[in-house]
Amino acid sequence: MKSSQRKLVNEIAALRAKCMKRQVPEATTRIFCSSCRKEATGILKSAEDPQGVFESFRSNGSVRALVMLKPGIAYSFLKLKGNHWQFKILCDWEDPDALAWTRTMLAKHRTLLKSHEFAGFMDAGLWSLLPDLKRCGISIEAVSLIGRTKLAIKKCPTSIVWPSGYFVRRVQKKDIRELLSLMRTEFRRNPQFGWFVSHPQFLKMARDGFLKDCKRKRPFEFVVIVNRKIVGHFGAHVTNPHGFGYKSASIGIGFKREHQGRGLSRLCYQEAVKVFSRERVKFFMGVTAQPAVMKIGAELGRELISFNMSSRKPYFTNDCFLKYPIWPKGIKVRPKYLK
Ligand SMILES: CC(C)(COP(=O)(O)OP(=O)(O)OC[C@H]1O[C@@H](n2cnc3c(N)ncnc32)[C@H](O)[C@@H]1OP(=O)(O)O)[C@@H](O)C(=O)NCCC(=O)NCCS
Repeated sequence: MKSSQRKLVNEIAALRAKCMKRQVPEATTRIFCSSCRKEATGILKSAEDPQGVFESFRSNGSVRALVMLKPGIAYSFLKLKGNHWQFKILCDWEDPDALAWTRTMLAKHRTLLKSHEFAGFMDAGLWSLLPDLKRCGISIEAVSLIGRTKLAIKKCPTSIVWPSGYFVRRVQKKDIRELLSLMRTEFRRNPQFGWFVSHPQFLKMARDGFLKDCKRKRPFEFVVIVNRKIVGHFGAHVTNPHGFGYKSASIGIGFKREHQGRGLSRLCYQEAVKVFSRERVKFFMGVTAQPAVMKIGAELGRELISFNMSSRKPYFTNDCFLKYPIWPKGIKVRPKYLK
């Protein structure tokens, strides 16, 4: 790498770290810094794509914003054919010049943005760019929520009382086929809550995750049983250390249709938080467009840290997500609903 490129990588990584620290103040570990550098290197590499776009805004000797557009699917776990493109926007939202520059870039590349199916993740702090993205045909598909176990456990009851007849046990190998079928059925029925979940590639990944959990001494995946039948599941994929540099969980949950709408998921989240506390999991993350998950997330103090953006036809309006009540303290200017 040339020294000018190395300098640019360092500047992009510094911008990434600065923005993330406003949302997750704990993101100061060496692991996090090296993940920022890795991301920055990837962004620069994609700048070499002849079809793609890479624009950056510098002031006072450092990068304050960048816009990257390139062909390829944004979800690392899916390999899909089609007109998929991804975007990345990094911008110091406390710098009005950087925000204004980013708006100009979105207007400049509107035709390109409108002519492909785009997806990408964007910091919650950039919420004021949502109308600009909307004009490019891109809107929020889901939000990422981050929970802190230490806070959440204080909000959970000491004993969790399930309705009579319901009980919880760890996932066993014999359950996996049924769990995958539950996921396939529910997310095909309601793709707006995660269209990719019913995709065979995602289900294969889920199967591998369940199988791995079955071999663990102390499990993270659970089923909810009534009359010996599985009616739902909840659990987490745990990474140690995660990109922020701490043990973190990525949570999943689902019930059969006839067991939805009974408030059972609240009990599942409480059970999961207890497990996280026992296993010293610091953060629990999740991507969701589910109003029930957002409601319970807010009860557990989870903060909204990023948007999953997409040019697929939106099912929910941006406002539905912007009304989420808990935002990181480092995002000082917030949507009107939260003032
Ligand atoms: C998502 C899911 C787990 C929710 O579980 P649930 O136990 O059925 O949730 P409930 O419908 O009982 O709702 C829980 C709370 O959210 C509230 N809620 C539900 N839908 C809501 C909506 N559209 N707007 C506002 N609040 C809503 C409920 O009123 C309830 O609050 P309350 O107990 O204070 O009254 C369940 O619907 C499911 O399995 N769906 C299919 C799979 C799925 O979407 N998984 C989540 C992917 S992120």
